[in-house]
Amino acid sequence: MSRTVYLNGEYLPETEAKVSIFDRAFLMADGVYEVTSVLGGKLIDFAGHARRLERSLAELDIKKPAAFGDLLEIHRKLVDLNDISEGLIYLQVTRGAPGDRDFAFPDPETTEPTLVLFTQNKPGLSDNPVAKKGIKVISIDDIRWGRRDIKTVQLLYPSMGKMMARKAGADDAWMVEDGFVTEGTSNNAYIVKDGKIITRNLGTDILHGITRAAVLACAREAQMAVEERPFSIDEAREADEAFLTSASAFVMPVVEIDGASVGTGTPGPVAARLREIYLAESLKAAL
Ligand code: PDD
Repeated sequence: MSRTVYLNGEYLPETEAKVSIFDRAFLMADGVYEVTSVLGGKLIDFAGHARRLERSLAELDIKKPAAFGDLLEIHRKLVDLNDISEGLIYLQVTRGAPGDRDFAFPDPETTEPTLVLFTQNKPGLSDNPVAKKGIKVISIDDIRWGRRDIKTVQLLYPSMGKMMARKAGADDAWMVEDGFVTEGTSNNAYIVKDGKIITRNLGTDILHGITRAAVLACAREAQMAVEERPFSIDEAREADEAFLTSASAFVMPVVEIDGASVGTGTPGPVAARLREIYLAESLKAAL
């Protein structure tokens, strides 16, 4: 069935939504994005995603789309039109299509940003059987640019990381810089040792995950100890548990790193409990 998508103020069948070949995202990866999950037909942490989008745009000097104030309504309408109970909404803002290729930014007075949203229907997203088994990761060098706190569409290296993982018989890759794990290809990384949850502190070297913030708040609320600091792959392999978080995976146990089992090699109790609390709390607050 054809989806209805949103493009620059219009709701269109997916086959009719067209973007210029001169769009800055197509030519320069000059755009930012957000992925918001939908559970029970409602948006999970919309406000957090809207805030991060605003920050990404400001950091790159991309003008806010005129419809910025209507984003909640647009998300909701797409959920309705496409009858999404569980799934994702992808949103992208680009610096627009100035009508030619040029390294210099176009004049924002004459080139409007491009705004695109589409849904991805994913029945069973919250009750994912993979979460009961856990996933395997490999470690790879982090060779991305230095502003990973901005959610840009420059996703070639993370895509290559996924393929390297697949080739190695694993599910995902954790990236390592100067001996410490930064994050996963599309998720934040955690380990658990002696009951303490350890995850890299925020900075320009990782994306400030919306799920990360919510999960750490849940952990603190449940009196679990949290330490925000870098950890190495060796430390992760010696940990009792490992897991990752993202808007599409929620809390996902990691049971193997570079071919070696983490802890018992099965999902640990901390990850399982956090997944349960996070899903319950975010559903309560869903819009
Ligand atoms: N990715 N780190 C990176 C590099 C990411 O791409 C993502 C999200 C995260 C987790 O952020 P959040 O909890 O806000 O989803 C961390 C999305 C899901 C994606 O690219 O599909």
